[in-house]
Amino acid sequence: MAHAIQGRLRLPGDKSIAHRALMIGAVAAGDSTIDHLPDGADVTTTIAALAALGVAFEQPTAGQIIVHGRAGFDWAIPAEPLAMNNSGTTTRLLLGLLANPAGPLMLTGDQSLSQRPMDRITDPLRLLGAQMATTAGHLPIRIQPTAGLQGAAIHLTVASAQVKSGILFAGLQAAGETTVTGPVHTRDHTERLLAVAGAAISRTGLTVHIQPLTRPLQPLHIDLASDFSTAAFWIILATLLPQSQLMLPGLSLNPTRTTLLDILARMGGDFQVVDFARTQTVEPQGTLAVHPAGLTGTTVTATESAQAIDELPLLALAATQAAGTTTIHHINELRVKESDRAANTEAILRACGAAITTSGDDWVITGPTALHIPVHWPKLPPDHRMTMLQVAAALVAGGTVPDHVAAAVAVSYPELLNDLRKLVRTV
Ligand code: S3P
Repeated sequence: MAHAIQGRLRLPGDKSIAHRALMIGAVAAGDSTIDHLPDGADVTTTIAALAALGVAFEQPTAGQIIVHGRAGFDWAIPAEPLAMNNSGTTTRLLLGLLANPAGPLMLTGDQSLSQRPMDRITDPLRLLGAQMATTAGHLPIRIQPTAGLQGAAIHLTVASAQVKSGILFAGLQAAGETTVTGPVHTRDHTERLLAVAGAAISRTGLTVHIQPLTRPLQPLHIDLASDFSTAAFWIILATLLPQSQLMLPGLSLNPTRTTLLDILARMGGDFQVVDFARTQTVEPQGTLAVHPAGLTGTTVTATESAQAIDELPLLALAATQAAGTTTIHHINELRVKESDRAANTEAILRACGAAITTSGDDWVITGPTALHIPVHWPKLPPDHRMTMLQVAAALVAGGTVPDHVAAAVAVSYPELLNDLRKLVRTV
């Protein structure tokens, strides 16, 4: 049985931008409106945490939320711990927003999140004067009020947009300038939204500068573009499955998110941006058309890996179908995601017959290999992006979708099963 992807799909709104817009809306003076809000569990975690901190929300229609901003960082202090559930982005960004609360706060996470490193954000926040006690570098984290935050020049060794964003949120509340310098220009949604909301923020090369707020941020009015990381699943499938024809309207095309397209173009991918628009939030978006293509192997640099971090598992799948060798450098950051995605991607693709090995901090993949459905899928901890990879690999192998899909993708893409029904054709 062979499959093709045929049709047009408006995907859910961007998860990364949604978290940031909700948080900026929470401290703005006035009501922010966010349209095309994705309904995954991670975004719900952000809304629930902000609500516990005293932020009022209204959801007049499905997909729209109004945030009644508190005009500053004067949070209500809940007695109960703030539940971060499975959301790393909520945790790391919120730690910055909550860097100097009026009373003690506690953040907890689920089993997977409680194993992920948090000292990468609490260490720099401490340099600004925040008082945060981790549990051996992990959640639970206790935050205490301080006499005041002081701006600092922070140099990051990990390429992390979450950490950069948390520091910028704390920098808004500090005395004097804060700068964040990272090894890579990671996704810049926080910078774009803060600029629109009136913060004094600028970038020179790999350094972002932020000044303390002299007056509250302005509310946001934003219609979220569709999530590029969700789109990656469809882009890779439409590239690999002959007779596919895919249109993705209203897609986020922020260049700090679309590195996968640069890599795919080098491999011989066939796709076009058929219109290109900017919203009032200065987040570029457009319609992407994707057609099937024969691919050749490539070398993915460490910088590209950092920028396409969430798309690397699907890129590895594409590489199994590309002629020759693909080397993907610097996969180690994948080990500290919702699961060890470096090991789990390898396990899934190998089980399907792919030639993928890990060499130090790199994947080496040779192709093309005809994939098959394994007799037994590897037993892996729940991780939405690993489930998406399994579904994609199953479709490339000409098989059916494993039936545990719906629950496992609730974190980022609850509509997946519906969308599969709409777009997957047997040819
Ligand atoms: C995200 C940044 C990335 C990414 C995550 C979302 C964000 O994490 O993997 O899914 O919204 O800032 P890191 O900052 O840990 O690389």
